[in-house]
Amino acid sequence: MKILITGGAGYIGSHVVKQLGEKGYDVLTIDNLSTGHKEAVLYGRLEVLDLSNKEKLKEVIKSFSPDAVMHFAASIEVAESVKNPLKYYRNNTANTLNLLEVLQEFGIDKFIFSSTAAVYGEPENVPVKETEPLNPINPYGKSKVFVEKILEDMSNAYGFRYVSLRYFNVAGADPQGRIGQSYKNATHLITRALKTAKGEYKKLYIFGTDYPTPDGTAIRDYIHIEDLANAHIVALEYLLNSGESSVFNCGYGHGYSVREVVEAAKKVTGIDFPVEETDRRPGDPAILVADNSKLVNNLNWKPKYDDIEYIIKTAWNWELNKKF
Ligand code: UFG
Repeated sequence: MKILITGGAGYIGSHVVKQLGEKGYDVLTIDNLSTGHKEAVLYGRLEVLDLSNKEKLKEVIKSFSPDAVMHFAASIEVAESVKNPLKYYRNNTANTLNLLEVLQEFGIDKFIFSSTAAVYGEPENVPVKETEPLNPINPYGKSKVFVEKILEDMSNAYGFRYVSLRYFNVAGADPQGRIGQSYKNATHLITRALKTAKGEYKKLYIFGTDYPTPDGTAIRDYIHIEDLANAHIVALEYLLNSGESSVFNCGYGHGYSVREVVEAAKKVTGIDFPVEETDRRPGDPAILVADNSKLVNNLNWKPKYDDIEYIIKTAWNWELNKKF
């Protein structure tokens, strides 16, 4: 079975490539390497290509002729999207449209989409179900909602089938330490905390202590990258077995505050790194926690690493020993 992965050299894509390779799938990665690393692609071939290059994309897709496509390639930072929205509408929305047009042309009709909890904005009901209204409060979330709407219409019009996976906060690394998160200027809380513990930054800033949460800091549902990657495998197998188009939240169903994550990072690393409280970061909702019952019940997803200290431990191991 041939699977095309866009963004397969990135953090989440590379873990999915690894799991697909381990299961014997024939994978081809497309990545422009703007934030990805060729060393992260543990299985299959890598084609260095930007999705804006539609002609080249057509050649690659025609010659590989995939049974299904998994689309990870995207820009992912909420704060950056507030400052530079057009980058997000170009990379996340317009380039996805390019890809979808090419798939349509070649009759490729199974698609897994990397969506995000940011599509919900400030949800009224937490834990959030997939039926919660989509009210994104930043351009990143909007850029993903536009794609979800396109997918819905394609599914109705063409018999195209897709699964959209709405990720909550993904963290951790390959338990064997081969791959993990590796961005030049990482902004995510756990990575930032661990880099501070390592001495790469002088201190960790806590953005906002006046949120309507028990300790005043924002709450997120942190999911281990291995469990998230496995959600992609079960979603793919669902589509390959004629499953209908659908949308699933990917999280554990409970959250941790920024302060709790900082304490866990100090405990795991054994380092009391400096922390400073500062203002809220623009575009950040107070609480994002998934109701994951649809994924668990409909796709029989069985998470294995629901443990914040284990998540941080694998990320710390990667941070100390990473090869790229
Ligand atoms: N935070 C800090 N200090 C830091 C970094 C982050 O206090 O140095 C706080 C943020 O303000 C936020 C929380 O930690 O309240 C988590 O922030 P991250 O940057 O780790 O992640 P986000 O919640 O902003 O975003 C991530 C993904 C999005 C996804 C979202 C869904 O990047 O793609 O999770 O929950 F949409």
